[in-house]
Amino acid sequence: MANISVFPDSESLVAGAADLIIRSAAQAMARHGRFTLALAGGDTPRPVYARLAGADCLKEIDWSRVFIFFGDERCVPPYDPRSNYLMARTVLLDKAPIPRPNIYRIHGEEEPEKAAKDYEGALRHVLGEDALSDGPPSVGLDLVLLGMGDNGHTASLFPGLAAVTETKRWVMAAYVEVASMWRITMTPVVINAARQVVFLVSGAKKAHMVKRVLDGPSEPVVLPARAVRPASGELLWLLDKPAAAELRIDS
Ligand code: 6PG
Repeated sequence: MANISVFPDSESLVAGAADLIIRSAAQAMARHGRFTLALAGGDTPRPVYARLAGADCLKEIDWSRVFIFFGDERCVPPYDPRSNYLMARTVLLDKAPIPRPNIYRIHGEEEPEKAAKDYEGALRHVLGEDALSDGPPSVGLDLVLLGMGDNGHTASLFPGLAAVTETKRWVMAAYVEVASMWRITMTPVVINAARQVVFLVSGAKKAHMVKRVLDGPSEPVVLPARAVRPASGELLWLLDKPAAAELRIDS
């Protein structure tokens, strides 16, 4: 069952998301001495990352113990304006004192299948999972941030992709027709093993899809965001009022 938080506007959503990340980091560090965080791409999280890099928030996290991953990446070089890594690096990663080896970039410039395989290997290494073990990690990421497109995709899990219903691989490459590009994405196998999964969704144009994903019956293949159902972790939706406009929220 998802917990839904609705904020009056995009600014309060950004502040609420940054506060949640700071809380999650403190809880993770108290629990096991580090914070493993998968960043979302796209535009919505950008101001959240920028806020975390601001003077008020930067000091709230012990960045030396933070491990950064990406939920997905476009298959472009790291200096390409479409790169999710470039966005995160520009607004946060170059401003926070994170040890560079703790930032795990998806190598979008490499052959997609190899990049996906290598990324899964890096994830397995950090999460202490044997390279050959089947199924989800026994200890998942502490926090996975996700956005959602107005077609119900999340990360680079787009409608109809095999990755949406994958049961073994943690990371997959796929050619995304609607985006006319290759993408590399975490699959629900590793996303659903996380301790916390948080969707950040803003704006009226997402309202109908938010309603369909949260209230509708469609299968994940049609609405991949519905494939995000943490096995034991917490699922939260942080929405601004326009994105929540079609939901009936019991007060
Ligand atoms: C990406 C993201 C993608 C994004 C949604 C929403 O690589 O584009 O991972 O899943 O979160 O498309 O994007 P916006 O936040 O820009 O609306």
